[in-house]
This record gives sequence, C-alpha cells and structure tokens, in this order.
Amino acid sequence: MYKIAVCVSGGGTNLQALIDRIEDGYLEDVSIVRVISNNPGVYALERAKAAGIEAVCVSPKDYEDRGEFNKALLEAVRGADPDLVVLAGFLVAIPPEMVEAYPDRIINIHPALIPSFCGKGYYGLKVHEGALARGVKITGATVHFVDAGLDSGPIILQKAVEVQNGDTPQILQKRVMEQAEWTILPEAVRLLSKGKVHIEGRITRIDAD
Ligand code: GRF
Repeated sequence: MYKIAVCVSGGGTNLQALIDRIEDGYLEDVSIVRVISNNPGVYALERAKAAGIEAVCVSPKDYEDRGEFNKALLEAVRGADPDLVVLAGFLVAIPPEMVEAYPDRIINIHPALIPSFCGKGYYGLKVHEGALARGVKITGATVHFVDAGLDSGPIILQKAVEVQNGDTPQILQKRVMEQAEWTILPEAVRLLSKGKVHIEGRITRIDAD
C-alpha cells in the first residue's frame, strides 16, 4: 500500500479529489494515512473526517516559535510514516529539515504554469490576479517536487487552462481547479505510486503508461 500524508490549509478541494479518486479506484493501492492542517476548523479537516481519515492540526499559534512549530510539523508527518507527502493548498513554508527528511518525496500543487506566477507572494487568488493583470491567454496548474526553494523543484505534470473574457480571479481559480488541479494531482500520485517518475537533474522523465 502506497501511503500518503496530505497537508492542507483551507477548503481541501484537492484533498477531496484524492479521496474521490481512491474511492473510484483510479488510485489503486493508495491510502491517505493522515491529513495535517496548520489551521483549525478548516473545511479540509471536515472532508478528512467524513472520509474516515485521521486529521490533525498543527498550528503555529500553539508553539513558542517557528522552530518549535517546524519540529511539531515534522513529527506529525513522521508519525504517519508516509511514502509521499502531498501539499494540497498548504500555505506554510516547508522547513528545510522536512525537505531533508523526505528528499524527492514531497509534492505540491501550484495553480499556475511554473515558472510563471510562482514564488514569493504568489499563492491562492494572488496567482490568478497576477495572470489576469499580465493578460496571459493560457494559464493552468503544475505539480512539482518540493525542494529547498519556493515552487522551484522538478516539475512532474502541468495542464493548461484557457483564460476567458470577463474572468475574475475567483472565476479563473475555479476553472483552474476544475480543469487542471483536480486532474493532475491524482494523476501525479498515481504515477509516483507506480514508480513511473524519474528525476534527472532538474527535470523529470515519466514512463509511458
Ligand atoms: C488551490 O488553488 C491550490 O492550487 C492552492 O491552494 C488553493 C486551495 O486549494 N495551492 P484547496 O481547495 O484547499 O485544495
């Protein structure tokens, strides 16, 4: 069984996509063993509980300083003993010690086509505000490995989404989620669970199905 721990901060729609794809059999032999949130009371935790998945909250507010929080976060991940850590709308800077503990075993879903609209300051709706302000005609989503940088690890999958006249950041975010994120995140987990993703320097090679 390929065990994944999913880190969340908000609504949890990407978590739900993983839950649904396990339930419909697309993700064979994959199990979400723990959901970890940095925010109490977010709907992602409700989604986990409804699916019978252990859900824990590790909130920075409960710790003396960032160092203590980082230790608690890493312990919450280690305790789940995952094969893979999935950051699904997780708005916390991943501590270096966690990246070191799980080399090439942490992935993130970013709501743009990296290297566009990523890095410092680009998260949530701000990503789509940037895309609309630049006037791009195509945006999309990216699943990538997490390394010591911000949105800078090797890209695993990307999917393009059309920007339409009259789009607001909210409308565009919803389209990117529906047409890209909720597809490529489960697909990336499937490929990784089957050992089909190979990292060669800064790029990945994916075995054909
Ligand atoms: C999504 O757009 C995701 O790409 C970004 O955070 C947003 C919220 O995701 N990282 P979710 O609904 O909590 O999965």
